[in-house]
Amino acid sequence: MFYLKYRPRTISELDNSRVADQIKKILSSKDLPHAYLFVGQKGTGKTSVARIFAKSVNCLNKKSYEPCNECENCLSIDASTFTDVVEMDAASNRGIDEIKSLIKETSYLPMSGKYRVFIIDEAHMITGDGFNALLKTLEEPPKSAIFILATTNPEKLPKTIQSRCLKVNFGKGTKADLVSMLKRIGSQEKFNYDDRFYSLIAHHSENSFRDAAKILEEVSMQKIKTIEELENFLGIRGKNDLLELIEKKDIAKSFVWIEEFTQNNGNFKNLIEDLLEKLRLYLLSKKGIETDGLEKTNLSAAEIGRLIRLLMEAYQLLKQSPIESLPLEMALTDFYNGTS
Ligand SMILES: Nc1ncnc2c1ncn2[C@@H]1O[C@H](COP(=O)(O)OP(=O)(O)OP(=O)(O)O)[C@@H](O)[C@H]1O
Ligand SMILES: [Mg+2]
Ligand SMILES: [Zn+2]
Repeated sequence: MFYLKYRPRTISELDNSRVADQIKKILSSKDLPHAYLFVGQKGTGKTSVARIFAKSVNCLNKKSYEPCNECENCLSIDASTFTDVVEMDAASNRGIDEIKSLIKETSYLPMSGKYRVFIIDEAHMITGDGFNALLKTLEEPPKSAIFILATTNPEKLPKTIQSRCLKVNFGKGTKADLVSMLKRIGSQEKFNYDDRFYSLIAHHSENSFRDAAKILEEVSMQKIKTIEELENFLGIRGKNDLLELIEKKDIAKSFVWIEEFTQNNGNFKNLIEDLLEKLRLYLLSKKGIETDGLEKTNLSAAEIGRLIRLLMEAYQLLKQSPIESLPLEMALTDFYNGTS
């Protein structure tokens, strides 16, 4: 799996430069804080950085802030056999008993490293009692213990816990950072894809490095070479054709188009996203705002606005709809009814 093969193992390998800078500063500081809260969307590097962090503080040949990834400690942390690094998934160990036994662990001194590092993934899943129990330990942690709480939902953590942790915000992968990761993988795998190709993948990866790496892997396995094939694969082929039919108000043909799109396993989420993006450009150009290349359309500004609102509604309904094409079909029906 690309996303495991190319999981960053040093801070300089992180494609999220803002996070990398912050972690560098923390690891270079004399007074290392003992509790951290890693916050960010899925697949943005929280777990990866927690492991790099654990290696860095326990590395036997640490150079400034980077772990060497070669010493006994680094290798053993990579292999998950290092007794001083404890990873706990709070999704399945969320209760008071599990937290209590974790707290008990923190009182032991490290065996082979300098610090015992406790990585608690999905930290927002911990129960109220569990948080209460953890609070005291976070307040006065043993000198040799470091806590890293990782979560996608920080708002579900009590303020008291949050305020005792140093927060590192991973946010979401920006398009530029995602492209830089994809290029890094691409050059090592000796792919010949161009920038447009990578940026199209980045665009469809929900701001997650993991998703982007997975798409790239699938694309290469399917031997996809051209942008057209990639668009097909991502289910966004022909959005211009559909827009043309909508502009012509050709109801019958646009429904046939959607039916074919369904038959070809098109991805409606991507399709609606792309339609919205195109409509936004139409709207901007109607208001005289220049965009890349002139966007011409027969739709009026009011029609574009209506279509955008209807498609946003359809987008929301996608998850609930038992038939994937239905929200888009309903949106177009409403649109045609309102404009004929
Ligand atoms: N900053 C990054 N730079 C490069 N690759 C990254 C970065 N963040 C994540 N990745 C890629 O995404 C994969 C998943 O990252 P990781 O498991 O660290 O994410 P996470 O934030 O813990 O996600 P989740 O919330 O789903 O647990 C990594 O194996 C790696 O391939
Ligand atoms: Mg994780
Ligand atoms: Zn090392």
